Amino acid sequence: MKEIIGVENLYLRYPSAKSDTLMDINFTVQEGEIFGFLGPSGAGKSTLQKVLSGVQRNYRGSTRVFGIEMKKRSRDYYERIGVDFEFPNFYGKFTAMENMRYFASLYNRPLQDIMGLFERVGLAADADKKVGSYSKGMKMRLGFIRSLTHNPDILFLDEPTSGLDPANARILKEMVKEQKADGKTILLTTHNMHDAEELCDRVAFIVDGNIAALDSPAAFKKTQGTEVRFSYFLQDDSRNEIFTQSCPLDGLGENGNFINALREKRVTSIHSKERTLEDVFIELTGRGLQ
Ligand SMILES: Nc1ncnc2c1ncn2[C@@H]1O[C@H](COP(=O)(O)OP(=O)(O)O)[C@@H](O)[C@H]1O
Ligand SMILES: [Mg+2]
Repeated sequence: MKEIIGVENLYLRYPSAKSDTLMDINFTVQEGEIFGFLGPSGAGKSTLQKVLSGVQRNYRGSTRVFGIEMKKRSRDYYERIGVDFEFPNFYGKFTAMENMRYFASLYNRPLQDIMGLFERVGLAADADKKVGSYSKGMKMRLGFIRSLTHNPDILFLDEPTSGLDPANARILKEMVKEQKADGKTILLTTHNMHDAEELCDRVAFIVDGNIAALDSPAAFKKTQGTEVRFSYFLQDDSRNEIFTQSCPLDGLGENGNFINALREKRVTSIHSKERTLEDVFIELTGRGLQ
């Protein structure tokens, strides 16, 4: 595996701010990975994306992409990356297709079939409408396909599915997976645990400008365990009373009460409650995702 992004002791303070928005951020991303930033609003996810995509350069510490320190990046960095901003900017008086052709003209790389991209995200019939008349969801989809136009090696996607209906969110997520299958590296910010779990190889939990924890979604959920709740009759069921007990799934095999009741057909129900990624997030950071 090849390291494609390396961040060391990264700090960032906005000129107008009294304190740092990003503090002591450290991580690496391997080529071909989908790496997620999961955290509540205001945590610093978009700021981190802006540093990585070379937009925000007044940081301290080191941020290298393709081995290039982002402070020193040149214009041609944008040939190799695709950026989908949280609030995509378009020329409202021009049609979506005119906008796409304009942005595509900024690149020297071979381009994707632009109409094909419109079709994929269900915007083909609206390609010749002015972007000013587009809804938020349509602009989001347009912003997403714009980031793919020049077939970049790394994609920076900032909340790509926020504000989309489930059907359109599904299309975008499938397209993100296709990009990964195509060998692309993807950095994705989200406050949606389902998206993080479905898409990301590894997830950094971001809170107050810090990485509070970093692991794969499966590992996060495994370490935090699953709870089992079972109900059973007593051996002497003359009272006809049902008892309920909870215990970790880990210890269920050694739970005599459970084993005996199960053997003797006294168990009436078993429920397991798998922790969600948000449960784990709350346990590790003391904060929710909303
Ligand atoms: N241009 C800016 N100038 C000053 N503060 C900013 C600026 N942009 C964002 N912030 C602040 O930085 C913090 C992190 O914001 P942001 O990176 O947008 O978080 P997220 O994307 O996780 O919601 C917030 O407190 C926000 O108000
Ligand atoms: Mg944001």
